[in-house]
Amino acid sequence: MFIMMPLWHIYGKQNLSNEAYRTTPQAYLAKAQAMVDQYTVRTETAANLPVVRPPPGSDVYLVARLWQWWPLLELEQGQSYRLHISSMDWQHGFSLQPVNINAQILPGYEMVLTVTPDTADSQTIICNEFCGLGHHNMTGKIYIVGGGQ
Ligand code: CUA
Repeated sequence: MFIMMPLWHIYGKQNLSNEAYRTTPQAYLAKAQAMVDQYTVRTETAANLPVVRPPPGSDVYLVARLWQWWPLLELEQGQSYRLHISSMDWQHGFSLQPVNINAQILPGYEMVLTVTPDTADSQTIICNEFCGLGHHNMTGKIYIVGGGQ
């Protein structure tokens, strides 16, 4: 229980009884692309990945694919978001660190978690389901910024 406490503290009243909906990779990717087109604030130079800052309270679409979590996200501390996740190809394991929230991600299913970052520390997404050659490099990022920045 000692280990669990920071998790619940950081994510407050988050209810991990997540929702899941049927979807298709094509339909899901279209929603993610629309969000990226509308809310990209910059790109990361190394991999030219978009960093997307959707409005507080909105639906956020994260794509899992070999071997990438796309796009990078930037969320506001203390605000809640509906984080959707689906896979384009294969089973992946969404694992958000250091808060240690985990979910199995499958193609054809759209998972929805409500997230409310309580600290300003960036969070890293890793894949904890073996998915082949690039598995160990399949990392993503959620930047957390203070309100009003
Ligand atoms: Cu994706 Cu391991």
